[in-house]
Formats: sequence, C-alpha cells, structure tokens
Amino acid sequence: MDTKTIAKAAAGLKGEVQIPGDKSISHRSVMFSALGSTPVHITNFLHAQDCLSTAACMKALGASVEFKSDTELVVTGNGLRGLKEPQTIIDAGNSGTTLRLMMGILAPQPFLTTFTGDASLHKRPMGRVIAPLSQMGAKIYGRQDNQKLPITIVPQAQKLKGMTYNSPVASAQVKSAILLAGMYAEGDTTVVEPFTSRDHTERMLEAFGVHTEKNGTAVTIHPVKEFNAPQEIEVPGDISSAAYWLVAGCIIPGSDLLLRNVGVNVTRTGILDVLKDMGADITLVNERTSGGEAAADIRVRYSKLHGTKFGAEIMPRLIDEIPIIAVAALFAEGDTVITGAGELRVKETDRLQAITDQFNKLAPGAVDGTEDGLVIHGGKPIQHAQAFSYDDHRIAMSLAILGAAGDGVTIENPECVNISYPAFYQTLDSLR
Ligand code: S3P
Repeated sequence: MDTKTIAKAAAGLKGEVQIPGDKSISHRSVMFSALGSTPVHITNFLHAQDCLSTAACMKALGASVEFKSDTELVVTGNGLRGLKEPQTIIDAGNSGTTLRLMMGILAPQPFLTTFTGDASLHKRPMGRVIAPLSQMGAKIYGRQDNQKLPITIVPQAQKLKGMTYNSPVASAQVKSAILLAGMYAEGDTTVVEPFTSRDHTERMLEAFGVHTEKNGTAVTIHPVKEFNAPQEIEVPGDISSAAYWLVAGCIIPGSDLLLRNVGVNVTRTGILDVLKDMGADITLVNERTSGGEAAADIRVRYSKLHGTKFGAEIMPRLIDEIPIIAVAALFAEGDTVITGAGELRVKETDRLQAITDQFNKLAPGAVDGTEDGLVIHGGKPIQHAQAFSYDDHRIAMSLAILGAAGDGVTIENPECVNISYPAFYQTLDSLR
C-alpha cells in the first residue's frame, strides 16, 4: 500500500500561498464555453483530475479544448445546440459535479449518451438528478432503479417541459443540472432549495448572457436561444483548497500565512464565519471582483480557538470544509457540535464515518459520530498514527494538517489529493 508520512510542523507555517483555481468554477468554465460558438480564453483553471474529466467530456462531445499551459486553455464550442453524439462511453472519473451537471446538459440532446466513473462515483446517489430530469420528460436509465452509474440518457421526441421543483436537498449540483436542462425546455424552470447552495452556475450564466431570477431560495431560468460567450474567464482561487492553510495557520503555534487570490463568494465562506466564531485571527485584504466572483487575499495567524456549534442552515456554505473544520475543533478548547451534515455521508466517501474512524486514531476518544453530524471534544492528547484516506482528497489533506499540527501522521493512499490539489504536499513542505 502506498503511504506518505507527514512530520510535525514544530516551528509553525510561514509564507505565501498562491491558491489554485476554484474547482466548481473551473468545471463550469469549460462546460459553458463548450456550449458557446466563439473561443473562450480561460485562466487559472484548476489543473487537477476532476476538472480534466470535465475537459475530456466536452472534447468527446465535439468542443475544441486546447491547453496553452497547465492552467490556461481556449475552449470553442459549436453553439448551444451543436453538441455531437459521443462515439464512446463518457467517463466522469471521481467527479460528482461533472456527472450531475453533464446529465442536465445532455438530457435534452437528440442523441444517446452513456456515463461511467470510478468506484466511488458508482456508489453515489444520482437519483436526486435523474428523478427531476425525468419529471421534465427526460429518459434516463441507471443501475439500482435509476439511482446509480452506469447511466444512459436516451433521446426523446418531445422537448423537455419546464417545471417548479422543490428540492429536498440544498445541492448546487442538483440545482445546476435542472437549470441547465431548463435552458432547452418549453416554459420556465424553477428550483426551490431548503437553503441556498453555491451560485456559480447562475453567476457564470450571466457572463454568457443568460439571466436567472432569484427569489429567496428559488431560482428561475427561461428557455435560452443561444449563448453569448465572453472572451475571457479568470477563475478565482478555491476557498475549499485555501481551507487547509486557513486551519493550519490557526492551530499551529507560530504560523503566519498570506493566502493569495481566494474566491470569497458569500455562498462559500461559511468556514470563515465558523473559524472567526471560534476565535481565529483572519483578515481579508485586497478585496475585489474577478469575473463576476468576489476574491480577496487572506492573512491568517495562530490563535487560541474555542469550540462552537453549527447546523443545517450554514451547511451548504461549508459543505466540503467539514473534515478540515473538524481538525480545527480537535485543537480548540471545549466541544464542537456539528448537526445537519447528513450530506457528508454521500460525498466521495462517507466523510462522517471517515472522520470518526481515522481522527480517533490520532486523537483517541476525541470524535463521536452522530447520524447527521459530529461531536468533537477539543484539547485531547494527539499522537502519531497511521490513518486511511479512503481515496478521498479532502480526508487525505485534513489528515496531513492534523498530523502537521499534532505529532505527525502516516497517510495510507495519499495520492488522491490529485483530485483537487496536486501541489498540496509540496506546498505544505514549502511553508515549514
Ligand atoms: C459542487 C457542489 C457541492 C460540493 C461539490 C461541488 C458544485 O456538492 O460538495 O464539491 O460544484 O456544484 P452538492 O451540490 O451536491 O452539495
């Protein structure tokens, strides 16, 4: 088995980090550009496995995808109705965003598509997208009663019909899939969420000349004739990647970090609110807007943290950050209680289970798992241990920061960081 040992960072982490491009925005930049008809120059694209899966999908559907460097590419489509039938099965790899958003784009197309993915993606629930798209008239078939990969979309004679969908989950992937299908439907399509999820789809559609209407937690799209692609898209840095340095900076004594170019769209900044509430020393500087998205540099310095409590309402704003927030909670004084986090059970792995089983190896007795959350007892002794990543990038990176702040860790299957942050271990080394 492949392992990687991370040593304790005894002297704190210091320096600057250029945060890699946002994963959610990188996916959308390639997908939407491939639906335009003029070249789009994309910069600060996240060159990581998940986004490369999306680039390969769009190529298979007839778009031109030309990389100028790792993080810079030009995508040219054949128009909103110009996608071509793929000659072979489309592989979404490990990426739920690729698969779910592509289902929304492909459900209305006049050709057949079959999807596959890796072992993790085969276990994840796709019925949450297949059911609403089927209600609009799409014909989509999947394993286990139209729930799981492999999935085939069959062309249908009728146009899809717009509808109002009350989503049981706050999920940007579900919302985006329905809105994207709605562009091709007859009549308006509205998605209502229990709480507002990230709005990168709505913001980027605006850059392509497509207006959506927001009313509380509801978003409406009208049928769309064509995409007016922008010439340039600059992807801001990913706050979900910055999250590892935010927490490392807070909990490792002596740390002082400057995180450059972090996307701070308010639908993503739940981690800043929670860490500040725990007593973190975090300052935003150089606040600006880049390509319709808010961005800033963030300075973080070591400080004493205390436990906190949060639940369902803030969850969509920090859904991918729970593993690293759990690390912060281990180093805080008192208990941290997290509820309303049931969605974590259907991410790349069951993250509530992964956190409970693996973090307790390094901090015995510190984490109690509940059905929809975690209770973390801060301030328990932390020891070196060997722990498993479950091939989940966010579990691997959280374990690395836990080890660096504690007494070291040996991570089993460490390479999965390539899904979203290929330079992660190198960056950690450079900050010691
Ligand atoms: C994403 C939405 C979130 C998030 C995922 C990326 C997106 O998933 O966890 O990493 O790009 O839309 P859900 O919308 O399913 O919660």
